[in-house]
Amino acid sequence: MNRIPQHVSIIMDGNGRWAQARGRERVFGHAAGVESVRACSEAAAEAGVKYLSLYAFSEENWNRPESEIHRLMELMMEAIRNETKTLLKNGIRLRVLGNRARLDESLNRAIDAVEEETASGSRMTLVIFLSYSGKWDILQAARRAVAERGAEGIADMDQEAFSQYLVTAGIPDPDLLIRTSGEQRISNYLLWQCAYTEFYFSPLLWPDFGKEAFREALEEYARRDRRYGKVK
Ligand code: FPP
Repeated sequence: MNRIPQHVSIIMDGNGRWAQARGRERVFGHAAGVESVRACSEAAAEAGVKYLSLYAFSEENWNRPESEIHRLMELMMEAIRNETKTLLKNGIRLRVLGNRARLDESLNRAIDAVEEETASGSRMTLVIFLSYSGKWDILQAARRAVAERGAEGIADMDQEAFSQYLVTAGIPDPDLLIRTSGEQRISNYLLWQCAYTEFYFSPLLWPDFGKEAFREALEEYARRDRRYGKVK
């Protein structure tokens, strides 16, 4: 059982290329990507993964064309509307983490509502990172720590105490990070939290990454030897 990662995180990449390969608009790829979100959530819950987190929108993604941003936010809204029942039925808790101040008020309200409704879900927590970046997270944590503790209060703060100011407070660090589409970089994602995370890169574009591909990633993880800087 300890070979099942407790927390799997995914950088969902390649929606645009998937759509362009079919002669379609990039947003067509994002809509198709929602199906992979569903498939991987199911596969994760079935395998006994306790936390599945997904990088849905980065702080840098605000620089994309307005129409693409709009469609992505719409997809989030639709997903919340359409999937809340399924989440409840399956005991899945939803959390949305990131720079929430940049989101529309209507989306923030919908997020608050679904987070509250699913708060007692104990089978798995599904975390969506929205308007998130790793450097933003570390900086907001530092600011909050100073505001709360004052300069003297942070002098003796250890790593564990600091991590309580990150938006991921209370969520274990990812054991496994999957990135699709063949890119092999972290792109300002969970910088602090991925200190000892195992990385898995798949050549598949996100809309092609289904249950089977997710299970293969878990199998590969089970073969890894994690040493956390020590010798065995
Ligand atoms: C990366 O592909 C993907 C995104 C920036 C968005 C991912 C969003 C979804 C799958 C839909 C909404 C999510 C949820 C949780 C309901 P890209 O556009 O960077 O692809 P490219 O590298 O081929 O251009």
